[in-house]
Amino acid sequence: MRVTIDSLIKKYNEKTVLNIDNLTIEEGKIYGILGLNGSGKSTLIQCISGLIPFDYGKIFYNGQEDIHPVRKSISASLQGNNLFNRTVFENIICGLEYRKASKELIKERTDKYLRYFNLQSFLNKNAKTLSGGEGAKVALLRTAVLETELTFLDEPTASMDIESTFQAEELIRYMAQGKKTVVVVTHDILQAKRISDEVIFMDKGRILEMGLGKKVLNNPESDYLKKVFNL
Ligand SMILES: Nc1ncnc2c1ncn2[C@@H]1O[C@H](COP(=O)(O)OP(=O)(O)OP(=O)(O)O)[C@@H](O)[C@H]1O
Ligand SMILES: [Mg+2]
Repeated sequence: MRVTIDSLIKKYNEKTVLNIDNLTIEEGKIYGILGLNGSGKSTLIQCISGLIPFDYGKIFYNGQEDIHPVRKSISASLQGNNLFNRTVFENIICGLEYRKASKELIKERTDKYLRYFNLQSFLNKNAKTLSGGEGAKVALLRTAVLETELTFLDEPTASMDIESTFQAEELIRYMAQGKKTVVVVTHDILQAKRISDEVIFMDKGRILEMGLGKKVLNNPESDYLKKVFNL
């Protein structure tokens, strides 16, 4: 799915927290969104995924200024785990159930994705009793099983150990196969280097710099980026 943003403004209590002139998200790529706390990363992905309204501007999905025809092709895993007070297994399949997936499809998808993490012994445990990193794996799987064309992941590995982080990155790469697109918010520059085709650096609600990950993460135009992120 191709998403184009034109002059997007989002305000909270009269304060502009997002001010994006132009942004295009292309098919078949992994995007890394980076930026300091409060720079607008989570707000941006919530606006694009239709979870919160914005004040001005336009967002086009495959050229149409209407999210409804593509809503089911977009999924978002928000910051923090937000798991339900149900078993791990029920959490992993809740999105599929909401989308009225058949029992066969649920079995096929869970078999396919559960192997990314060693969660077998947790499946019947209440998700609220998991550790932070375990919960993060469940949250990521809950989104992965949907196999949406466009997926937003807000700091998916923030509480994972290094081994699990690498497994999650393998999964994220798989989620972007074919024409699918994954947008990952991260504070981890090394992770962005490992997984992003394109990166977007945000600062105070604006896009400070964007472009090929290899270029921007190794030799950004902005002196501010070089200094603050030690690039
Ligand atoms: N529901 C809300 N009500 C009021 N202000 C909000 C709300 N959500 C976000 N903000 C403000 O909007 C700005 C951008 O927040 P956002 O969560 O998008 O930042 P972020 O880049 O994701 O930061 P972090 O790295 O801490 O997750 C911040 O100044 C924040 O305080
Ligand atoms: Mg955030």
